[in-house]
Amino acid sequence: MVRVFALLSALGLLFWGLGQTGGTVAYPQGYRTWTHVKSMIVEKGHPLYELVGGLHHIYANEKAMQGYRANPRVFPEGSVIVFDLLEPVVGNHAVVEGERKAVIVMEKDSRRFARTGNWGYALFPGNSRTPANIDVNSCYECHKGAANTDFVFSVYRP
Ligand code: HEC
Repeated sequence: MVRVFALLSALGLLFWGLGQTGGTVAYPQGYRTWTHVKSMIVEKGHPLYELVGGLHHIYANEKAMQGYRANPRVFPEGSVIVFDLLEPVVGNHAVVEGERKAVIVMEKDSRRFARTGNWGYALFPGNSRTPANIDVNSCYECHKGAANTDFVFSVYRP
């Protein structure tokens, strides 16, 4: 009996351990109705150009908005932030929104994403609902630059 209990506890720990590392970020359904945080155009020559060149809008769900407003900035569990990347189309003395290049996402879950600063990272190319195979550590490494604002760079424009 004691052995069975020990075995079950070990299995429980194993699954808990797997849960810490094996997490995926879901496609952020409905994010276009969330709060718009800010927009930016990243041009050739900017350090972010290779990764996210183009026009982007950032959106936050309600929990993430609590984080953007908090001082010091700490985001609650369940916060989701979307980086909506579009192709800028330049012409007729205007820059307009072209095709979607990617939907890039961060989700806060300290259990599933403990290894990457409690945030999960994902990139959905174009209009796809299937995440690309990315190296989440490369996302995390750069986002460490914003460690004192809970790994989030952008600031909400009131
Ligand atoms: C070289 C540095 C760098 C890398 C690598 C990087 N990011 Fe970012 N990321 C930024 C910066 C800077 C911003 C802020 C952009 C702005 O203010 O509009 C940002 C913004 C974001 C945001 C909006 C929330 C925030 O922090 O402002 C998300 C979501 C995001 N990145 C996801 C990712 C994902 C997923 C990856 C990996 C595929 C990634 N990032 C890789 C620098 C980086």
